[in-house]
Amino acid sequence: MSASNAVFVGMDLGTFKTSVASSTGYRDVMQTAVGWPKDHVARTLLGRDLVFGKDIVEHRLALDVVRPFEKGALKYVDGKAAGLDDKTVKKHADATRLVVEYAVKMVHREPGRPVFGVIGVPSRANTLNKKFILDAVDGIFESVAIVSEPFTIAYGMNRLTDALVIDIGAGTIDICPLFGTYPSEKDQVTLSMGGDLVDEEFEKKLKAKYPQAQVSRNMVREIKEKFGFVNDVSEQAVVQLPVNGKPTNFDITEPLKAACNTIVTPIVNAVREMIGQFDPEFQSRLRQNIILGGGGSQLKGLDRVIESSLKDYGGAKVTRVGDASYAGAVGALKLAMNMPSEGWTQLKGAKGRKAVAA
Ligand SMILES: Nc1ncnc2c1ncn2[C@@H]1O[C@H](COP(=O)(O)OP(=O)(O)OP(=O)(O)O)[C@@H](O)[C@H]1O
Ligand SMILES: [Mg+2]
Repeated sequence: MSASNAVFVGMDLGTFKTSVASSTGYRDVMQTAVGWPKDHVARTLLGRDLVFGKDIVEHRLALDVVRPFEKGALKYVDGKAAGLDDKTVKKHADATRLVVEYAVKMVHREPGRPVFGVIGVPSRANTLNKKFILDAVDGIFESVAIVSEPFTIAYGMNRLTDALVIDIGAGTIDICPLFGTYPSEKDQVTLSMGGDLVDEEFEKKLKAKYPQAQVSRNMVREIKEKFGFVNDVSEQAVVQLPVNGKPTNFDITEPLKAACNTIVTPIVNAVREMIGQFDPEFQSRLRQNIILGGGGSQLKGLDRVIESSLKDYGGAKVTRVGDASYAGAVGALKLAMNMPSEGWTQLKGAKGRKAVAA
């Protein structure tokens, strides 16, 4: 049961970023990563045993950095399928726990008050993935519920009926139709790709075209976030990259567009297929109410490309969430605050082991 001094926390525990919002009015976003100083010199220099958030990028050379969900690992694909041995899975579980603990601390500054949390996971995350997260966060919350990521976005926007949410994250793309109830697993689709794949493709294409250019994965991502597009634009994207240390201009328009487009056809095909499964009246209502969320929703032109790909199907209206960083966390917080106390009691009765609304 939720105590009267309870604090509610909504969390979008993303592959790349974790955003978190609490009923006490705080919200924050951090990378889903933990850095451990590489040796005692690094430890002395940094003055702490664990590093989170922006400091990870700044001090990355002095740190062993663990990103527990890279490429959807453990949130969507299990450890074996992601090629992780038992020791690595354990390290990722520790990192998950540390990230969640730190995220809760950022928004909940009064120890002693019980914390009730809702955490978003990919639509088709299986029981093992959910159990991995529940086990990793054991003890942090008085009670915790695991829900589908795109559902939290829809819930936060009050678009719970006749809508289709596409959440384009770093590790997965989740597509979820809403018809007024909690969506069942079989109604939703998770594509095992996202912004990480775009970055990989972009880096490959960039290096193939300009082998002399020196570029890191971090730079690749930042360039994509600034210039990324999927439509035909006349503007050219020119960036400065070092060649043997000397800044040089490169026109990256073509490799960037090709890389960004790798996720477009799979999204369009999945949306067409999903909509086709519903009765015709509902199909047109869904097409008129498509919502793009997640960081990847900010790719320029993506809304129009999806709209035009559905022209032959009767047309579509695609909108983006107002705030790609926080839409999931804010929706999860709203869910937490609206959860009836019996809901929390049931979860607690199951010792936090039972994933609600699986
Ligand atoms: N302006 C932008 N244009 C294109 N991509 C962007 C932009 N801003 C962020 N991204 C990309 O969005 C991705 C991160 O999105 P988000 O924070 O929703 O993912 P996540 O929740 O961490 O991942 P997942 O939902 O897969 O677990 C990254 O690949 C990032 O590079
Ligand atoms: Mg996400």
